[in-house]
Amino acid sequence: MEYFEELLRRPSIFKDESKLDINFIPDKLPHRDKEISLLSQLFLGLITNPNSISRKILITGKTGIGKTATVKLFGFLLEKASKKRDINIKYVHVNCRKERTSYKVLIKLIQLIDNKFPKRGYSSQDLLDILIEFLYRHDLHLLIGLDELSYLINKHEDLIYSLTRINDDTLKGDQRLSIIGIVRDISCLNNLDNSTMSTLQRNIINFKNYSKDQIYDILKYRADISLKKNVLPNKMLETISEITFSSGDVRTGLNILWRSCKIAESKNLKYVNAECIRQGNQDLLPFSALDILEYMNSQKRIFLLAIIKALNNSEQIEISFNDALKSYNVVCENLGLKPKSHSQVWNYLQEFKRENIIETNVISEKIKGRHAVIKITDLSLPNLEKNTIEILNSKGFKI
Ligand SMILES: Nc1ncnc2c1ncn2[C@@H]1O[C@H](COP(=O)(O)OP(=O)(O)O)[C@@H](O)[C@H]1O
Ligand SMILES: [Mg+2]
Repeated sequence: MEYFEELLRRPSIFKDESKLDINFIPDKLPHRDKEISLLSQLFLGLITNPNSISRKILITGKTGIGKTATVKLFGFLLEKASKKRDINIKYVHVNCRKERTSYKVLIKLIQLIDNKFPKRGYSSQDLLDILIEFLYRHDLHLLIGLDELSYLINKHEDLIYSLTRINDDTLKGDQRLSIIGIVRDISCLNNLDNSTMSTLQRNIINFKNYSKDQIYDILKYRADISLKKNVLPNKMLETISEITFSSGDVRTGLNILWRSCKIAESKNLKYVNAECIRQGNQDLLPFSALDILEYMNSQKRIFLLAIIKALNNSEQIEISFNDALKSYNVVCENLGLKPKSHSQVWNYLQEFKRENIIETNVISEKIKGRHAVIKITDLSLPNLEKNTIEILNSKGFKI
């Protein structure tokens, strides 16, 4: 009966578990000094000449290599330096994959600077006006981090262009908005307005992948601040670094680290051994995929499950769009759901492709005769299936 007492009596391996959380922003980011220093130089003018410049910077680089963490830490450092000098600069971070439309991003922005702001009842133009008015009234310069920007770009609305126009048209020479956009690579930005595009192209900071040694240093630092001394032998950290290096995504490393420590604790061990790491590394999907799975709507998730099932049933490594549709109809029927339209499902397919979940080759794209082959090569199919079903179950679908 004394579950908590029993657990609390056990010696913990952790000093501060929350510092292994992937959303935790540490005070230091080893091997990103150069990038933070470059950002500081680029934004120095915001402090030396308040409201006289507007910067638009684009950060590119693969998943899990510290883009988000670097920009958030930089935003914090910029706020700190400006506060010291009585200059009013605020950093706000918005993830466009979570907000999805320019409208939602704008609402989120305003709510981040004014937490009493209501959610509904405004047009986009209203919101831009409200934003300008707020910046004036509070004598504020806003640095906006638009993370995972590619998710907005496809919607044929150019938020960056609208925000830039505020600076140019409305503020009578005052510059009160700066932007840092984050994308995986520049090719995601084809739909932007030409002038926005050329501004951004001139100001790209490309984040390089970490080497194996750098990943080791980073995980060592995160382990040092979150674990007690001597619970993670060097050899074990090397193993985790090696596993992490194959995807390059530091989140994988943090997750394996956390799981292995939990497993060591549950076995009453004083330190992490190879078996803990082996178990900690089981059934893991890359974090990028888990994130996407978590935030997609259930209809889309059901279609993904249908693709997985069709691939499982097929003797081939790839299936046709038609096979996926047939499987989808079966899954929907079992769940008592009305399937989404052909073209909606086709759109899901294109989104999966952009999200790097599936690979697909379109053979023909006439409305009635859409032909494509679909395969999943980068992710473990059983793990993807397990995770998809788990999330669907948690949303009340009985698979
Ligand atoms: N240099 C670093 N030092 C410490 N932690 C890091 C470093 N780079 C990345 N991380 C951690 O790895 C995870 C992934 O980084 P993130 O910034 O989310 O990557 P990205 O935005 O490039 O996909 C985060 O939890 C982050 O805190
Ligand atoms: Mg990120």
